[in-house]
Order: sequence, then structure tokens, then C-alpha cells
Amino acid sequence: MKKLNIKLADADYNILIKRGIIDNVGEEISKIYSGKKIVLITDENVERLYFDRISASLKNYDLHKIVIVPGEKSKSIEVLTEVYSKLASFKVSRSDLIIAFGGGVVGDLGGFAAATFLRGVPYIQIPTSLLAQIDSSIGGKVAVDLKEGKNLVGSFYHPKAVFIDPELLKTLSTKFLHDGIGEVIKYGAIRDKKLFYKVMNFKNDEEFLENVEAVIYSCCSIKKVVVENDEKDNGERMILNFGHTIGHAVEEFFNYEKYTHGEGVAYGMYAITKNSESLGDTDNGTTEEIKKALEKYKLSYNIEGLRNEKILETVELDKKGRGDYINLILLNNIGSCFIKKIKKAEMNEYLKV
Ligand code: GLY
Repeated sequence: MKKLNIKLADADYNILIKRGIIDNVGEEISKIYSGKKIVLITDENVERLYFDRISASLKNYDLHKIVIVPGEKSKSIEVLTEVYSKLASFKVSRSDLIIAFGGGVVGDLGGFAAATFLRGVPYIQIPTSLLAQIDSSIGGKVAVDLKEGKNLVGSFYHPKAVFIDPELLKTLSTKFLHDGIGEVIKYGAIRDKKLFYKVMNFKNDEEFLENVEAVIYSCCSIKKVVVENDEKDNGERMILNFGHTIGHAVEEFFNYEKYTHGEGVAYGMYAITKNSESLGDTDNGTTEEIKKALEKYKLSYNIEGLRNEKILETVELDKKGRGDYINLILLNNIGSCFIKKIKKAEMNEYLKV
């Protein structure tokens, strides 16, 4: 088992990474929770695959479940309201426990429900997708989307623990494995050259999965340091958004139906680096290295049909695009990044697609 501890002014919790931990979560929970009632929030896919196993592990608890429809569309105020109603019908109190058991949508929505129901119910994250295991389940960002943009209503609310089971990734589709690998490549590009080349040089998905525990640990270690230094995202934490400005706009452009988050970020990393390299901010050859890493995992660096004006419009609406300036995350080279504050008027040069 690999373990990391996140220590913040108001939170202190462990991330446990272990193959098969899903069968021992009851035992792990009993070390940090002495109550009886647990509400498990999950989606239909995860329920079908893993509910029997996780409920067996939680047999000593009074277990309730809330099952949502899979997909980004469920990260909405409407679904959130349904979750609140179910929590109310289960008579959940602030001394009970919520578990968010699923990918990024379940984690963000379940975490935001936990943050706000009764002004805060303790919760645990058990992420089931690669993207959630290395990013969204860690660091306390919880949110729902509005039709005006992603994650526009949210909070910082940390879980009491994060349990990561790399075995669960065996049932991920190739598309969603590669979606998570987009974010792994991001961690390598911004902070860890060794990780970047290790992942780029794996022979195939099988070799990636054989080594995934160590990869998850590397990504979570980077995120731990960044979140501990800047919990509320006013400085260093922004580096985790490398590729995200264009990436979010790509997701939005295709109405969240064609490109997943990691796929959007993959393209966003390539596009912004191509621009920053030609503007002289990034070392020559860096874009080519990103392209090679993306190609390995069939992530797109060339998306047909995108329109510059539409991308810029979406960036304006994005919460990161508020005000007269915008912070962009650019690479010096692979493994090293910096934050560049630019005037909105200059943004087209960096964000052109
Ligand atoms: N996913 C970016 C962050 O947690 O700040």
C-alpha cells in the first residue's frame, strides 16, 4: 500500500493507494468513522460493476445508495437537488458519512452535496476513473456545472480520506483510460520530466496499467505539494490548469459529447505550447515532445472544425477568464512551467487553435 498525507490549515487526511482496497474499505473507514449510517453516491455503471463488492465490505454499516446517470450532464443543479432530496429522505445528519464512489462527475457532485447539505457532512472519495484517481478526488475542489459554464458553482471541501484502487481501472474503456493519461502527461509536462518520459516510453496500455500504481503515486505526490502550498488556487495551484483553458473550450464547443475532459486538456496542452513556442516563451522542440506523448495514447493534437472566435467566447465565460487579465500556464520545457499573466487583448495569440 502507498500512502500520502494531505496537511492543510483545516484538514488532514490520507490518500491510500492499493490494489483491491475496495474490498477493505469498511475496515479502513472504521479507523476514521465511528457512526453507523453511510450514504454511497455512485453512477449506474459503477453500481453495476462494483456495488456488490463495496457493499460487502460495508456490511457492518447502515448503507443507503444514490445512483445517478453517468456523464457530465449529471453534474447539474437539477441532479444535485435530487441528491439533496434523497439525503433528506435518509434523514442524514452531520454525524453520518457520505461516500462519493465513481469518476469525476460523482466525486464533484457528491462532494458538493456533502459540502452543502446541512452546511457540511463528512465524506470520503473512492475514485474509480484514472482521471479522478490522479486529480479530481484530491484537493477538495467540488462543484456542479451551469449551462453558462463548467464548475461555476462550487466550494473547497476536503474529504476525510481518499481510497484509490488501481484494479478498478481494468474495466475502464480505452477512451477513458486515455482520458486520464491526458492528465498524467500534464503532471509530467508541468513538474516531472521523468514521469513524462516514463509514460511516453511505455510500450502500450498494458504496460501502463502494470505500472499504474507508481504513476498514480507520482501524480498524487505532485498534487499534494501544490495543494498544500496553495489550497485556494490563488497562485501555484493554477499550474494544474495547464492545457485547461483551451481544453474546457473544446469540451464546450462539442457540447461535452465528443471530447472528454482529458482529451480536451491533451489538445489544449499541445495548442498552447505550439503558440508559446512560436512566441518564444517555450524552448524549441517542446511541442514535438508533447505531440509524441499524445500520439502514443491516441490523444488528438489536431481537431477539425474548431473556431477561434468561439473558443475565445467560451474562455470569457469560463471562471478563469474573468477580469481584464488572464493567467496562462506555459511550459519552459518538459517538466517545468510558469504562470504568465497576460492582457485579455493578447489572449488570441496564445489561445489560437
Ligand atoms: N484540477 C485542478 C485542481 O484541483 O486545482
